[in-house]
Amino acid sequence: MQETKKLFIETLGCAMNVRDSEHMIAELNKDEAYTLTTSAEEADVIVINTCSVREKPVHKLFSEIGAFAKHKKAGAKIGVCGCTASHLGAEIFRRAPAVDFVLGARNVSKITKAVRTSKFMDVDIDYDESTYAFSDFRHSTHKAYVNISIGCDKQCTYCIVPHTRGEEISIPTALIVAEVEKAAAKGAKEIFLLGQNVNNYGRRFSGNEPKINFSGLLTRVSEVVGVERIRFTSPHPLHMDDEFLEVFASNPKICKSMHMPLQSGSTHILNQMKRGYTKEWFLDRAMKLRQMVPDVAISTDVIVAFPGESEADFEETMDVLEKVRFEQMFSFKYSPRPLTKAATMEGAIASEVASARLARLQGRHEQILDEIAGAQLGKQMQVYWEEAREEGMLAGRSFSNFLVQAPGDASLLGVTSLVRITNPRRLVLYGEVVA
Ligand code: 5AD
Ligand code: SF4
Repeated sequence: MQETKKLFIETLGCAMNVRDSEHMIAELNKDEAYTLTTSAEEADVIVINTCSVREKPVHKLFSEIGAFAKHKKAGAKIGVCGCTASHLGAEIFRRAPAVDFVLGARNVSKITKAVRTSKFMDVDIDYDESTYAFSDFRHSTHKAYVNISIGCDKQCTYCIVPHTRGEEISIPTALIVAEVEKAAAKGAKEIFLLGQNVNNYGRRFSGNEPKINFSGLLTRVSEVVGVERIRFTSPHPLHMDDEFLEVFASNPKICKSMHMPLQSGSTHILNQMKRGYTKEWFLDRAMKLRQMVPDVAISTDVIVAFPGESEADFEETMDVLEKVRFEQMFSFKYSPRPLTKAATMEGAIASEVASARLARLQGRHEQILDEIAGAQLGKQMQVYWEEAREEGMLAGRSFSNFLVQAPGDASLLGVTSLVRITNPRRLVLYGEVVA
């Protein structure tokens, strides 16, 4: 009997890429059975699903391709997919002749053709995958990622994504609901809705579709039998209108964690970034959310040292941190990206200044995190177990997205337990199952 082919797939970047990797695995398996391997040396197909949002990983990509080329099996194919593929296109073949195919973030449905065709490339950002019916593959049986839109229409001046994922198109509601039903029937109690800009859902479909917005979609998804928890990422602070906040607060299936990418606390810098909101709007939305949903966890993304960011601008970001006290923060030094407007702006910030600002922001956030964690001592939380860790520990998420671990049996995977927090740490709350 012929052995099944082996696929090694490395996924960088965001949740969108995680889902795109699942799509590629499912597509490849349509015609031929592939098994996943964690060893690139034994793979027949090696895929790197790339991210281009910052410069460093893009640099690392080429040395990584070199290492794969050196150690791969004879005849194994190497593919570069995702956002850096969209952005660099044929340059990847020129800089790394060992690469066999290049497939953009918007073209992942063509993976089978890519593997079978010599030097295949498709990086068309106008290609419409929004109605493409992918076959099914999910890394987890407990949680299902479901795309609700592709691309992004915003023109944030620092961001390369509109150039890698193209214009925003919403996926038809009926397709989304059908996918949620399928996942729920297979046991996924948690549904994670994905898009670059989820709360702009419904603004543009590729065909004629009934009018609906994100709040309407959330309600539809929550009506699917078997769905117990709904999460989504990323919403845009600009589109956090009252209707959206009310649906978020009142629907008992929507998990009480909200990602609110701040980027900067300075209205002047937000203008330069073309974010479309002010510091006051952001604070108003965050405070309203805290007031409507007292146990909400708010996460954020921050960029420090955007061109022209003065000390006073940076203090505004620190001020928002003090006022909102984010439960989670992803923070980055500004990294100039090709094709973006900010890359040609004046006022570059010296690297030592950027590092010092990032360190100050992260240092203060760590203190806040310690305080937030400390306040969880003795609290009881509903935790959905997703993973068995070493030494009999289970890991899962509370309804407001705290990572919780407790001793427990693997038979609890996919089950929700009440957990009392006994040892809260900055990144993990340890506890014990109560019921
Ligand atoms: N430089 C630094 N960080 C960036 N991000 C996006 N583009 C850049 C850039 N050019 C960050 C933003 C975004 C997150 C995914 O990555 O904070 O929300
Ligand atoms: Fe990276 Fe953005 Fe592409 Fe996600 S969409 S992989 S974060 S560049």
